[in-house]
Amino acid sequence: MCKDCKKPFFITTPIYYPSDKLHIGHTYCTVATDAMARYKRLCGYDVLFLTGTDEHGQKIELKAKEKGVTPQQFVNEIVEGEGGVKDLWKLMNISNDRFIRTTDDYHVAAIQRIFKKMYDNGDIYKGAYKGKYCTPCESFWTESQLVDGKCPDCGREVVDAEEEAYFFRLSKYAQPVRKLLTETDFLEPKSRVNEMVANFIDPGLEDLCVSRTSFTWGIPVDFDPGHVVYVWVDALFNYLTALGYENDRYNDVDKYWPAVHFVGKEIVRFHSIIWPAMLMSVAMPLPTKVYGHGWLLLDGGKMSKSKGNVVDPYLLAERYGVDALRYFLLRTFPFGSDGNFSNELLIGTINTDLANDLGNLVSRTCAMVQKYFGGTLPEAQEADETLDAPLVELASGLRDRYEAQMEKYQFQNALAEVMKVISRANKYIDETTPWLLAKDEAKLPRLARVMYNLLATIRICGILLTPMMPTTADTIRDRIGADVYDWDSAATFDALPKTATVKIGDPLFPRIDMEKELAELEAIHAAANKPKNAVEIEPLATENVDFDTFCKSDFRAVKVKACEAVKKSEKLLRFTLDDGTGTDRQILSGIHKFYEPEQLVGKTLVAIVNLPPRKMMGMESCGMLLSAVHQENGAEKLNLVIVDDAIPAGAKLC
Ligand code: ME8
Repeated sequence: MCKDCKKPFFITTPIYYPSDKLHIGHTYCTVATDAMARYKRLCGYDVLFLTGTDEHGQKIELKAKEKGVTPQQFVNEIVEGEGGVKDLWKLMNISNDRFIRTTDDYHVAAIQRIFKKMYDNGDIYKGAYKGKYCTPCESFWTESQLVDGKCPDCGREVVDAEEEAYFFRLSKYAQPVRKLLTETDFLEPKSRVNEMVANFIDPGLEDLCVSRTSFTWGIPVDFDPGHVVYVWVDALFNYLTALGYENDRYNDVDKYWPAVHFVGKEIVRFHSIIWPAMLMSVAMPLPTKVYGHGWLLLDGGKMSKSKGNVVDPYLLAERYGVDALRYFLLRTFPFGSDGNFSNELLIGTINTDLANDLGNLVSRTCAMVQKYFGGTLPEAQEADETLDAPLVELASGLRDRYEAQMEKYQFQNALAEVMKVISRANKYIDETTPWLLAKDEAKLPRLARVMYNLLATIRICGILLTPMMPTTADTIRDRIGADVYDWDSAATFDALPKTATVKIGDPLFPRIDMEKELAELEAIHAAANKPKNAVEIEPLATENVDFDTFCKSDFRAVKVKACEAVKKSEKLLRFTLDDGTGTDRQILSGIHKFYEPEQLVGKTLVAIVNLPPRKMMGMESCGMLLSAVHQENGAEKLNLVIVDDAIPAGAKLC
């Protein structure tokens, strides 16, 4: 495909609620979307990859209130703050081209125009809404949709609610949407189609409430003050406003629309019924695809921010590396189905697939090329058809088998194909016994060809791993000296130069000690789940000190005459103290983190005065101030022992 006529490809994640920190479930969807975006780029598409945050709604309004901040401050912190949404995507090496926040001005203005457009064309009208409302899900439900009288999404209590509201004429679009779902491949996996038709369309699509008067944290309906746009109109249209629809911020609608949407199964209803209906209303082309992926479960239940049973992607990425985590998520769980997350499964997969199979193949091969040929393969190489053909054929056909799976969004199968080739290459080493070939000078050309076949196989696998493990793929390319590393060449076995040069480096994926690691994770989990404001004190000493030794320590009351921060030191404060002797005593103490100097002037403290003087930052410290230390929520706390001012300077404490 030529550079100037690259085909566009637009792919999106859901825009996540910044009601709390994101967890491994969100990471799963974003990593999958990223892998698809990178795969399409690798194939030569002009990709636009969009993600973002869905910032309005009652839930966020309530959370902000609980925290005593404005909703805008609340979402700013979660989206832009340290360890927030944007930080997480940076850490996970997410290659999104755009990030939309529904509080962005251009989006707000566009939604007001879109709402008015649908009102003007008669698809939005004013009415009164009576229904069962689930506050955490911000969803109204009909009686027939409830499960045991409770919210079908989250299983919680619903309440009767009524308010003046605007409605979208969803019912009008029931037939075209039904046709879309049943007669095209718009929604996948196919199993979700039945669910949508049987549960939502066939029982009769009801018009959808699209405004609220019961809360204010939303986009105002500009022609009817008091109403804010109900969050799903605001949220779904992000996919278009982020391209410039009804706004001037971007001008990419013609180029990139329609989209492929990756969404979790619980929001398939919104994306496969409501979203196409709204697009039909504004006469826009429909998305190419909605893919409803499964959930990551923890102990059989859905991980969710509101339930608090979540796995922290920061922790896992920090301990095992971003690529290992990305690989695990994509290799382990079939994208369309639910899967049970466990630390054991994660560590097991890293050890087996990455440390043993992939890492080992790269290390062994490079080490052998180094050992037998000083790092560079010679020109003279000798093939052995019988032994080589199975590997060469398997590796040469890998790209096509991988592509077939990727085009169906089956990441786990695409990776399984790559891993099959890697295992075959490890087996090829055992079959060809390079260590025996190396013993015979005459067999060096044969040995060189064996090494070449291994490097060429690694090159192909490396290219195809780029979407899932971008950093590892770069390392592999570097290690095996591959200067041809693109999609086209991934189907050409011998695109690697014959005289390739390898580099030796650290293992790609160190093996993890499963038992030790599980115990550590358990301890971290227990510490993280401690009640808030947990105070920890050091265990009491078990060894006794004899009385005479104790009596040798001379504790005195001292008055702070002056206190200042020591220049060029972040920690030290310099105290000038009255110890009752008439001569000032100087003590340096590393407590600036806990006190400002001016807080302490005039205070009566306790010092041990018969410690040998110590030099710190070129100054002498004569003694030590007593303080009490403990841990609070994992952070060190320190309080100086401050005593009654009635105690004169120099009084002995015993
Ligand atoms: O629904 N397993 O946002 P949200 C797998 N703002 N994926 C999971 C998951 C889990 N346990 N938990 C969450 C919203 N996800 C709306 C979307 S789009 C116009 C508006 C992923 O923060 C999954 O992709 O609740 C799911 O659909 C999404 O996060 C929901 O994120």
